[in-house]
Amino acid sequence: MLKDIEKVYYSEEDLHNIVVRLGKQISEDYKDKNLLLVSVLKGSIMFMADLMRQITVPCEIDFMCVSSYQSGTTSSGAVRIIKDLDINLEGKDVLIVEDILDSGRTLGYLKSVLMTRNPRSFRICTLLDKPERRVVPDLFADYSGAEVPDEFAAGYGLDYDEKYRNPPYIGNLKREVYSE
Ligand code: PRP
Repeated sequence: MLKDIEKVYYSEEDLHNIVVRLGKQISEDYKDKNLLLVSVLKGSIMFMADLMRQITVPCEIDFMCVSSYQSGTTSSGAVRIIKDLDINLEGKDVLIVEDILDSGRTLGYLKSVLMTRNPRSFRICTLLDKPERRVVPDLFADYSGAEVPDEFAAGYGLDYDEKYRNPPYIGNLKREVYSE
């Protein structure tokens, strides 16, 4: 375990079990559909790579990279597209793949942008969900790996200050790391 991680919330095995469950459910629901998995970079990279291996129906993949405008440590809610999709969404069954759904601002914005491109359907799959933090009304995950409390988590793609994305588990950081 990395020395800066205090406690592991989800081990590699826990995450594998979650991803297998989601993959099965998605494979069942998207039989005879036109599935396009859209990974929102960068946090979803590991989840996307593992989830797509558990999906047994044909699918395409694409990537989007967005960034929140920050004022100090709080997000203003405005989101900027850094890398847009390459694939035309017309007629596609879009499934967004996210590592965490928090305030909902990122996906609220993405949904409003992507819905103008006429996908056949639009759903959200998130590994972690913090429903109590939601500020965007009516934004929910269609597929959710686990509901988590409002504690800081890192690993398996999730970062703190762009680091700690590499451990294959999710844990919380020692207090001294983020109070330095
Ligand atoms: C994280 C996460 C989501 C977003 C969720 O991304 O990957 O995209 O925050 O928060 P929200 O629901 O409050 O909008 P972040 O901006 O940290 O970028 P990253 O994916 O590159 O880590």
